[in-house]
Amino acid sequence: MAAITMKNIVKEYGDGFKAVRDVSLDVQDGEFMILVGPSGCGKSTLLRMIVGLEDITSGEMRIGDRVVNQVAPRERNLSMVFQNYALYPHLTVYENIAFPLRLAKKPNEEIDRRVRETAEVLELTEHLDRKPANLSGGQRQRVAMGRAIVRQADAFLFDEPLSNLDAKLRGQMRTEISRLQRRLGVTTVYVTHDQTEAMTLGDRVAVLRKGVLQQVGSPRELYEQPVNLFVAGFIGSPSMNFLPASFDGTHLDTPLGRVPLDDPRKAEAAGDRQVVLVGIRPEDFEDAELVSAEKRQRGATVRVRVDVTEWLGNEQYAYVPYEAPADLAGQLRDLSRELDSDQLRTQAVVALDAASLITAGDEAELWIDTGKLHIFDPATGENLTRDEERVAALGRHADRAREAQRRAQQDGNGNGNGRPEAKAGESPSG
Ligand SMILES: Nc1ncnc2c1ncn2[C@@H]1O[C@H](COP(=O)(O)OP(=O)(O)OP(=O)(O)O)[C@@H](O)[C@H]1O
Ligand SMILES: [Mg+2]
Repeated sequence: MAAITMKNIVKEYGDGFKAVRDVSLDVQDGEFMILVGPSGCGKSTLLRMIVGLEDITSGEMRIGDRVVNQVAPRERNLSMVFQNYALYPHLTVYENIAFPLRLAKKPNEEIDRRVRETAEVLELTEHLDRKPANLSGGQRQRVAMGRAIVRQADAFLFDEPLSNLDAKLRGQMRTEISRLQRRLGVTTVYVTHDQTEAMTLGDRVAVLRKGVLQQVGSPRELYEQPVNLFVAGFIGSPSMNFLPASFDGTHLDTPLGRVPLDDPRKAEAAGDRQVVLVGIRPEDFEDAELVSAEKRQRGATVRVRVDVTEWLGNEQYAYVPYEAPADLAGQLRDLSRELDSDQLRTQAVVALDAASLITAGDEAELWIDTGKLHIFDPATGENLTRDEERVAALGRHADRAREAQRRAQQDGNGNGNGRPEAKAGESPSG
């Protein structure tokens, strides 16, 4: 196992395109780091530079204590799983998993032991003699993972390993990868553009935009304390709403209505800007009728016309279209396009309690949890209301969670060295 340390990494492709711009990122020993961002933001490029499949234009890449800029891929002792994880169709599952060990000319009995241990961990034991063509998608994916983890690599690198699977299987494999990583405790960098994977798998998540690192933090930190509009919009589904608003020192005039800005720190953050973008997550709205009097005090209510509602049983969404000033509307549309969002109009997405009886066409009173709103500078996109104290608290929480997981995993392994070991009684869901 080893830490991966990137310092001012730049990748300029042959045609002059800068795919990665000055990225500095530390992946700690044993950490599960997610690289996330829209298509083309440089995730795969960065991962390929870690493995050595792509030259580094400038900057320093370290694995453990060693600078690896000039080290050949095979000498880096890393294991990678790709999106199209081509298995060898003519080889059995056993031989597919054994492949890297055969390449490394390991003795037969060591190969046999390790293949069987790995198969046990991935619940593939009964399939060892079968050919890939006869396996389900999820089983094939597990074979690909087996091939990656059978070697005692210093780190695992995954490039969208689940994107070829259907939604249900993706969910199952996500849980399995998470369990496996905790169990092996091997440093892992995982690329995805799926923000659910990013939120559920990672100890920390690094968000990239056009080759530039935007923010690195625990999923909670990114969700609760995003540094800018881009991260705020990318993390969370449905996305945070961004409402253009004028600010008069005490109140925000938004297209949904006038909202007091009681928190002095937030008012101060907005400063003397006359126009800001107010960020409100869908779940920070509620049908005012369902909000207790005491809770009402802690927020504001607005009257809006609801366009469409979607009732999903356990939750409910309402859509509230609004008009935005032309310049800001353009900016919001660009952002939305960049976030790969499919929103065609400026509309607020509001999550209501499933019990709410608000219906399409209604003029309804919505409560807003104003304590949770963010204020962004429309010019720079910077989040003006990031709470550094809260960020520190979330950081401590993430450290504790990781420590607890690590302890549990070591107790579970018994040997504490994090190698795969066949264990009974810890079988995954299926
Ligand atoms: N060989 C190449 N020469 C020139 N430009 C390239 C090359 N490979 C990739 N790029 C560009 O570098 C940028 C980053 O590519 P990369 O494959 O890292 O994106 P990504 O974040 O993995 O996207 P996706 O989610 O679509 O896989 C893209 O704009 C791409 O067009
Ligand atoms: Mg990619």
